[in-house]
Amino acid sequence: MARESWASRAGFILAAVGSAIGLGNIWRFPWMTAENGGSAFLLLYLLIVLLVGVPGLLAAFVIGRRSNRNPVGAFRSLAGSRAWTALGVLCVVTAILLMSFYSVVGGWILRYFLESATGAYFADPGTHFETISYGAEAFAYQLAVLAVTALIVTAGIRRGIEATTKLMMPGVVVLLIALAVWAARQPGAAAGYEFYLGFDGAYLAENFMSVLGSAAGQALFTLSIGGGTMITYASYVDDDRSLPLDASVIAVLNLGIGVLAGLVLFPLLFSFAAGPTEGGPGALFVGMASAFASLPGGRVLGLIFFLVVLLAALTSLISMLEIPVSFLVDEFDLERKTATRGLFGLVVLTGGLNAFSPVVFTLFADHLVDLLLVLGLTGFMIYTAWVLGPDAVDEYLDGAGPVSRPLVVPWRYAIGTVFPAFLLFTFYADAAALVGLAIETELLALATLVTLGPFVLYLRRSDRDEPRHATEPAD
Ligand code: PHE
Repeated sequence: MARESWASRAGFILAAVGSAIGLGNIWRFPWMTAENGGSAFLLLYLLIVLLVGVPGLLAAFVIGRRSNRNPVGAFRSLAGSRAWTALGVLCVVTAILLMSFYSVVGGWILRYFLESATGAYFADPGTHFETISYGAEAFAYQLAVLAVTALIVTAGIRRGIEATTKLMMPGVVVLLIALAVWAARQPGAAAGYEFYLGFDGAYLAENFMSVLGSAAGQALFTLSIGGGTMITYASYVDDDRSLPLDASVIAVLNLGIGVLAGLVLFPLLFSFAAGPTEGGPGALFVGMASAFASLPGGRVLGLIFFLVVLLAALTSLISMLEIPVSFLVDEFDLERKTATRGLFGLVVLTGGLNAFSPVVFTLFADHLVDLLLVLGLTGFMIYTAWVLGPDAVDEYLDGAGPVSRPLVVPWRYAIGTVFPAFLLFTFYADAAALVGLAIETELLALATLVTLGPFVLYLRRSDRDEPRHATEPAD
């Protein structure tokens, strides 16, 4: 069967933006921001998204469009080596792990959406979240969210993913803007903005390493890079578009919505809850629920807010599921429907684990996926710069405009050297934080050099080979 492609450029951009904008921007972002000293975190996060995220996104796009395959097929057909194929497999695994905890939060959102109508969480938001967050009921809501995701993915690229994200994303944007305007007029707005936007240099200086690790992880998470989503989505792109332009548009839209979500959340948290002090995965639920509970018209606002978040979560879940689905369809010639069903079954199991165990959930949601994404993107970058090499340059230039053309050489060198080093460094910093080790910065830097240096030198030597081309699909 012929492989599908996006019906339009806007379709691709909206689907990619839909993937990027999600719980990462609305649920995880305030939690991470609060955990990492507010605005200090925001600044690093913005810088990393723009400076490292956009070139990284571009690497994923280049791999996807060059190969027209899922991540495993992409690395196998372009590199032809087992070691790189393993990176594709890592993507598939990461996608399944991502979906497993993300759908639990999706379930919480669905529940809060429905309960906004009845006001069930109004009486005591803190206790309410505690009672509903894990267990059989959480699992049931998670299943509902996963089922909807699977239905959309079953319908395919154009009729499923493109059609639904085209409807959902504009809805998300309009509703969020309306909520931000309204939030600005609430009594605690100024304190909220202060926490969110007022720069706290002292905090940053003191906690630089841990803030850096979290900010990098969150930046990749929010852009959906490092897990193969963007490789997969770009594999359905036709050849004549400017990838640099698309990558920039997607990153800027994602940042805009992320910042906007903060402009809704923080004023409300400071107006109606105890600020973002609650922390942890419950921050959004307890905080926002308290806000809605104490407001006239809180039910309607709650409905609108949780609807926005639900739509945003769905478009991201869809993009996670598409990774393993495209893998099974491309590599094993499975019917899309069969592949989706099988994966649904698998994620019900791995996801169930998260719905029943807060320990597993927190491990996945807080550090594990960050680490996997950072590792994945480091691999994508090195691969694009050194293995694809001249082919990557070709692919970048294909459709690129006058502004982005001259940037191709600096791009290639940056993603081959400085950026992967930076990412690996944050990987070590975050991993050390995870196991509770306080490691000297110099030692982390040394570890980065020792792991990356010889590897790049080795690849650089093999870079003199002929450029590689994708092998034809064997169908
Ligand atoms: N970017 C999504 C969000 O912010 C999460 C995501 C990560 C989706 C990785 C796909 C792949 O919610």
